[in-house]
Amino acid sequence: MAVYQTNSVGIVGSGIMAAGIAEVSARAGLRAVLRARSQDSLNAALKQITSGLNRQVEKGKLDTAERDRILSNITTTTELAGLADCDIVIESVIEDLATKQELFRQLDVTIKPTALLATNTSTLSVVDMAKVTSRPDQVCGIHFFNPATVLPLVEIVRPITASEDTITRASAFVTTIGKEGVHVLDRAGFIVNALLFPYLNNAIRMLEAGTASMEDIDTAMKGGCNFPMGPFALLDLVGLDTSLSILETLYASFADDNFAPRPMLRDLVAAGRLGRKTKAGFYVY
Ligand SMILES: NC(=O)c1ccc[n+]([C@@H]2O[C@H](COP(=O)([O-])OP(=O)(O)OC[C@H]3O[C@@H](n4cnc5c(N)ncnc54)[C@H](O)[C@@H]3O)[C@@H](O)[C@H]2O)c1
Repeated sequence: MAVYQTNSVGIVGSGIMAAGIAEVSARAGLRAVLRARSQDSLNAALKQITSGLNRQVEKGKLDTAERDRILSNITTTTELAGLADCDIVIESVIEDLATKQELFRQLDVTIKPTALLATNTSTLSVVDMAKVTSRPDQVCGIHFFNPATVLPLVEIVRPITASEDTITRASAFVTTIGKEGVHVLDRAGFIVNALLFPYLNNAIRMLEAGTASMEDIDTAMKGGCNFPMGPFALLDLVGLDTSLSILETLYASFADDNFAPRPMLRDLVAAGRLGRKTKAGFYVY
């Protein structure tokens, strides 16, 4: 088996997850190159990373030299060609298969032949992305959790096309950045979301039925199950548009009513209330 060293990580996207993946990679001493379509969104992502690090400095959890070292490991680009030298490229754009496939087609002809191409998709089929490239054996899922800077888990998703070498390289990368990897086949929702989303969707069903208030459902699941946050706070954190896409994919895959997105979720997304990122979702922030 060839031995590949991961020194640099390209991240495509500038949303919550892309910024988090860039930060954890940079913190581990890797060079992180963040690519978005506009300089404005790159600036917003850098601002998100910098203010998070500054908060840690204020709390005494990080010194300024370490903050500066992390930030100096992150560069940005608006061109996919800016990722040409990266050893691993992780796609983390909107949860939409056609958008991701187009990106994979372009990345395949832009990044170096030995580079690993990964997706941070929450539920979409990884093989559907692998098959549009000329290197399906070098494609896998590297699925982080939100916030990526805090949560230790990463799901390493194995599409049927991936080589053993690819899974080994992805696992080594996950270890390098100090995360805990678990292995899962390329089935909708992988492990966590396949189990989590029926619960979140049924919490909305319970709210729609008027069984209890949103606040009381959240309080109940925190106090009764020792969960760190209730289902509505979690849906707002994940993003309601992302949650809707996840449920739609799960429903299309399993045809189970527990996955059929609830009307209240569709209404909130239609109204542009996408959760914390738009300052309003189930709650107002
Ligand atoms: N939010 C979560 O809790 C979470 C957790 C794990 C994985 N994910 C996955 O990570 C990915 C990104 O999610 P996020 O929460 O960071 O989303 P987000 O809404 O914060 O960011 C989406 C990003 O996609 C970009 N984008 C939108 N349309 C695009 C297009 N047509 N072409 C290229 N880029 C486009 C946006 O500019 C933005 O940078 C998704 O696949 C999602 O399923 C999300």
